[in-house]
Amino acid sequence: MLSGKRILLIIGGGIAAYKVLDLIRRLRERGVHVTPVLTASGEEFITPLSVGALAGSRVYRDLFDLTDEAEMGHIQLSRAADLLVVAPATADMMARMAGGMANDLATTLLLATDKQVLLAPAMNVRMWRHPATERNLATLRGGGIHFVGPNDGEMACGEFGPGRMAEPLEIVAAIEAALAVGPLTGRHVIITSGPTHEPIDPVRYIANRSSGTQGAALAAALRDLGARVSFITGPASVPPPQGVDVTRIETAREMHEAVLDHLPADAAVFAAAVADWRVSNAAERKLKKDATGKAPKLDFTENPDILASVAQMTKGRPRLIVGFAAETHDVIANAEAKRTRKGCDWIVANDVSPASGIMGGTENAVTILSAAGAETWPRMSKEAVAARLAGRIAAALA
Ligand code: C5P
Repeated sequence: MLSGKRILLIIGGGIAAYKVLDLIRRLRERGVHVTPVLTASGEEFITPLSVGALAGSRVYRDLFDLTDEAEMGHIQLSRAADLLVVAPATADMMARMAGGMANDLATTLLLATDKQVLLAPAMNVRMWRHPATERNLATLRGGGIHFVGPNDGEMACGEFGPGRMAEPLEIVAAIEAALAVGPLTGRHVIITSGPTHEPIDPVRYIANRSSGTQGAALAAALRDLGARVSFITGPASVPPPQGVDVTRIETAREMHEAVLDHLPADAAVFAAAVADWRVSNAAERKLKKDATGKAPKLDFTENPDILASVAQMTKGRPRLIVGFAAETHDVIANAEAKRTRKGCDWIVANDVSPASGIMGGTENAVTILSAAGAETWPRMSKEAVAARLAGRIAAALA
């Protein structure tokens, strides 16, 4: 699928640059033509010789190299590729991109290109979470840039958290997804998935049995139709699909914030099983049994309804909003009432009574409710439901 594609690979300055050597190898194995652009700071970590040898290509380094300009001008270089990939994308690179700067070859190419751009960020966790980086991220996302990672984990600087660059094979999958051509190419879809965890104390939480299977299958199906997918997931028991921009959250409030951060979108699908309530008196320290034997009293507050808040936005509402209704009785009547109450366009209703085996299972039997009426689909795998629903979404956005 990638064979014959042309990637302009911009290598930023970060310790993760060493992984880019492996990325180049993986891309070459798949028949991709890689044209490397090594930034001055990237060159502090890996050499032009190793990059050029692995890529089997000349390495572009300087904006003012007259030989380069005579061979291929920077405008042409920025357009000759099918996709531009920046790995590692540092905080500084993201800031310069968000600000529209063109003060070296890499940023000039990124500003001049008419092709899609994929970023694989890598930086210290505090830099990633800094409000300035968050603002830049929002600006770049809003401009339609694709992201892969960063992942959580231990970092070269010894700290722990999000900031590690995605692994080479994850970047390859994101490249495949960014290049996928289908009816949803150029469209951005947000999906929420999985359960939320609402803390009782630092070690205990309230959750539900959602596995995240339907949401993950839907994200993969939309990706395969060419969509740029922002996948916002609670602690699910199935892994997120490759090639989508994953944001991991725990609580409903974090999910809400993440959804708002990822707008604008053409469509939003709310497949998550969000906890309706959170514990308002969650303890800062672990609750202990005491001599009185009295059980702790938990107070609850209602969580924000993420679906309703987005569906009722007066400005910037995604064109198509799809909700799910997991019901144990009067499925259709309850789901239709929910559709009008929340203000979404479609509701995917299903019966989650224990006898149905759907919640946490591999199959689903759904009814799609819209202004046009109700349509019941036969029981099928969650992947098949996802493929059919993704096709419907593509048709609605066409
Ligand atoms: O009201 P109920 O939880 O049954 O609604 C289900 C739909 O609403 C799902 O699409 C779910 O993802 C969404 N929802 C939400 N935020 C909540 C509760 C539900 O987005 N707090």
